[in-house]
Amino acid sequence: MNFRQSILILIFLLMAPSAYSSTVVNNDSLSDESDGKNWLGFGKTYSEKRFSPLTEVNSDNVGRLGLQWVLDLPTDRSLLSTPLVVDGVMFFTGSYSHTRAVNAKTGEVIWTFDPKVREIAGERLRIYWDSSRGLAIWEDRVIIATVDGRLISLDAATGTKQWEVNTIPEGKAYYISGAPKVFDGKVIVGNGGTEQEAARGYVVAYDIATGKEAWKFYVVPGNPADGFENEAMEMAAKTWTGDWWTFGGGGNVWHGITYDPEFDQVIIGTGNGSPWNQKIRSPGGGDNLFLCSLIAIDSKTGNYKWHYQTVPGETWDYNSNMDIVLADLEIGGEPRKVLLHAPKNGFFYVIDRHDGELLSAEKIGKVTWASHIDMKTGRPVEIEGSRYEDGRELIWPSVFGVHSWHAMSFNPLTGLAYIPTIEMPSLFTDEGVDLKGWRSPKFNLDAGVAFGVEDVPPDYGTGALLAWDPVAKKKVWERALPNNWNPGTMTTAGDLVFQGTASGDFIAYHAKTGKDLWKRNLGSGISAPPVTYTIDGKQHISLLVGWGGGGLNLGTLAGQHGWAYKIHPRRLFTFALDADLPIPKSPDPFFPKPVDVPDLEIDTTLAKAGASQYAQTCLWCHGPAAVSGGMGPDLRAAPTTRDYTIFKNEVVNGRQSLGMPYFPRYSETQIQELFHYIRQEARKAVNDGT
Ligand code: HEC
Repeated sequence: MNFRQSILILIFLLMAPSAYSSTVVNNDSLSDESDGKNWLGFGKTYSEKRFSPLTEVNSDNVGRLGLQWVLDLPTDRSLLSTPLVVDGVMFFTGSYSHTRAVNAKTGEVIWTFDPKVREIAGERLRIYWDSSRGLAIWEDRVIIATVDGRLISLDAATGTKQWEVNTIPEGKAYYISGAPKVFDGKVIVGNGGTEQEAARGYVVAYDIATGKEAWKFYVVPGNPADGFENEAMEMAAKTWTGDWWTFGGGGNVWHGITYDPEFDQVIIGTGNGSPWNQKIRSPGGGDNLFLCSLIAIDSKTGNYKWHYQTVPGETWDYNSNMDIVLADLEIGGEPRKVLLHAPKNGFFYVIDRHDGELLSAEKIGKVTWASHIDMKTGRPVEIEGSRYEDGRELIWPSVFGVHSWHAMSFNPLTGLAYIPTIEMPSLFTDEGVDLKGWRSPKFNLDAGVAFGVEDVPPDYGTGALLAWDPVAKKKVWERALPNNWNPGTMTTAGDLVFQGTASGDFIAYHAKTGKDLWKRNLGSGISAPPVTYTIDGKQHISLLVGWGGGGLNLGTLAGQHGWAYKIHPRRLFTFALDADLPIPKSPDPFFPKPVDVPDLEIDTTLAKAGASQYAQTCLWCHGPAAVSGGMGPDLRAAPTTRDYTIFKNEVVNGRQSLGMPYFPRYSETQIQELFHYIRQEARKAVNDGT
């Protein structure tokens, strides 16, 4: 090569850097809002906006969007996760944290990694979450968190395991469903589990190179007799009463964690109480810090910086685990560095992230537990009776919140947040709960308050896509959606918002007006948010499709679209302009038909005991009153529940590799009780013709 040729090559390289340089995932690239080529973090960048600057696909031409490729995922069930894309390679987690790298140009699988969750979880598999919401990438590593509580570093090129740590104390019923988050060479992870255990929430940061713990932050104080870990815990303990530590207290950080590089802080969204019912957890009342809060933690030291509590003294499962989005907004004529947060409690918060000052809080849905947030004190003004003081109260929102973990996005060009919302109440009642003698469960579901184990009618809850202006504090547009359980959103500089629906439609809306501009049915309920990126400069949009998540335990409400267990294929779809593959066929909606065993005499005493046992151990996968929403088979229709011996064998031995846990410790009587309860529910359905 002569001098002239080398100069020409050098000029070429300088002109087309993206074709030759590979992306390094680190603080710089994860802060780069202008990069449309990649989707590097859970919310795309550190700001968690789920906003892409790409405009190739836009409100004028989105009608030309077509299917580029599709990947079948036959072993998956719930698909909830956000795929990440680095230089044309896509990484995602499926059921049981099964991880794949895929060539995003062709849909070919490059490697897979199975962390063997079902084998390792053993009896713990009975905690129903089978899916994880995402993974993280740092430099040349992929970091996954497994449902059973491990954190694993993989070589991004090969999928080979580099290190693995257990993040959960032995024997605890905690699980990880959230995506680990990376920053500054560290990875941070929390966990969930406040309903199955005396749970005490915490987050841990590890050094990514070694897997060694860097710091740990507890959310609620432990037993004062053991001394407090730090001043924050000492301060928090003053807001608790009774022997809260014997119940764990809760506050588990199972979703929202945002790194804020401008203030060297990690902001975590904390969970509800363990148990939910404050009359048990902290019988003399109190705010119960730091439940249902946003907490800023110094990212270098793990020390407390500030907090804002959205629900003092929580008693409804109104946690603040939802996404925490960073934005620069002009408020009252002043530029402010804020965070946007729409927790379960039904208010939309704008908070100064420098010091946690509350800037605004407005209702975004039907809320009957509080009238408003007092801007002087920053505290909600509660409506009398909402703490089910008399033992029973129907309250909006439900335990699923006005907004759950399904991601909101924020478009800095329209100034709007796009939020999947829910309108649904819960009946909270102490009836049948022994408030004085209550003890925390161990791998059973018991929140210290009854909130419904009956089937849920199809119209009990509804959903919407809400476009909310956080500066004007008002709704700009809203679109009604089917069901209450619709997935997260993504928005682009092409004036678009993308979202799937519970009924299986993938829709592109005009970001300013909410008009739908493009729609395809993808053959299964959608529960994951889309992402966008480029391949050879061309914009692509990808989405995992597989009905799933906790909302499926709502019986007929969840089952109304006919996404019955294992009937509809799980797939990864990728769309681009002018691509024209046909959408692959999916079976018609399917509604399992309950079958009665007419000559069996149902023992109502056994069935009654079976009802409460079923609610504690089977409901979360098989649905309330044995009506499945699609997470597991409908036991009223299943062939193995008609004969006691066959049923017993299923329960004792399980089908661990398929997600049905084994229950080897159940007594003959317990299994009889379950059997008679399921038979009773099947007979009821057959007689009612439902
Ligand atoms: C963690 C989720 C989970 C829990 C908890 C769970 N199951 Fe299952 N169960 C499943 C799944 C998934 C399958 C289907 C496995 C397969 O694909 O064959 C299943 C299958 C079954 C079957 C076989 C159904 C058929 O198709 O014939 C029976 C019976 C059953 N479960 C009973 C129970 C009972 C009783 C309980 C409570 C004691 C329970 N299960 C708890 C997930 C669960």
